[in-house]
Amino acid sequence: MNFLIINGPNLNLLGVREKSVYGEVSFETYFQDLKIEYSKFSIEYYQSNVEGELINEIHRVGFDYDGIILNAGAYTHTSIALGDAIAAVNTPVIEVHISNVHKRDYFRSKTMIGKDCLGTIAGFGLNSYKLAIEALISHLDKR
Ligand code: DQA
Repeated sequence: MNFLIINGPNLNLLGVREKSVYGEVSFETYFQDLKIEYSKFSIEYYQSNVEGELINEIHRVGFDYDGIILNAGAYTHTSIALGDAIAAVNTPVIEVHISNVHKRDYFRSKTMIGKDCLGTIAGFGLNSYKLAIEALISHLDKR
C-alpha cells in the first residue's frame, strides 16, 4: 500500500515551533521511526507552506495512492480550494492535527476540509499520524 503524508504551513518547524503545543520532535525524526514501524508499506512525506503546492500534490497522488494523511495546518480553517481538491480525487484522505483543535482558539474548531475527508484525528500529538495510518489500513482492509 502507498501512503503519502502531507504537512501544510509551518509544520516544517515542528520541534522548534510552540513546543508546548506541538512537542519537541521534528517531523523528519518522527517520520524515520514511522517508516521503520510500517516498513511493509510505502510511506512518503511532503511538506509545503504554499496552498497551491499542497493542492498540486493531492492531484499528483490522488488517483493512484491508497491513502493521504493530511495536516493542512491553518489552511484547514480557511481553504475552500483544499477541500475541493480532496473532493476531486479518489484516494481517501484523513485529516490530522497534532493538537486538539477543539480545545484551542474558537476558529480552529472550524474545518473547510473535514466534510471531504474519510475522518479526522486530532489531539494525540505526533501519534495522530500513526493513528491515521492505522485508520487507513483498517478502512482499506474492509473494502
Ligand atoms: C494544526 C492545528 C492548526 O490549527 C494550526 O494552524 C497548525 C497545526 C495541528 O496539527 O494541531 O498549524 O493543524
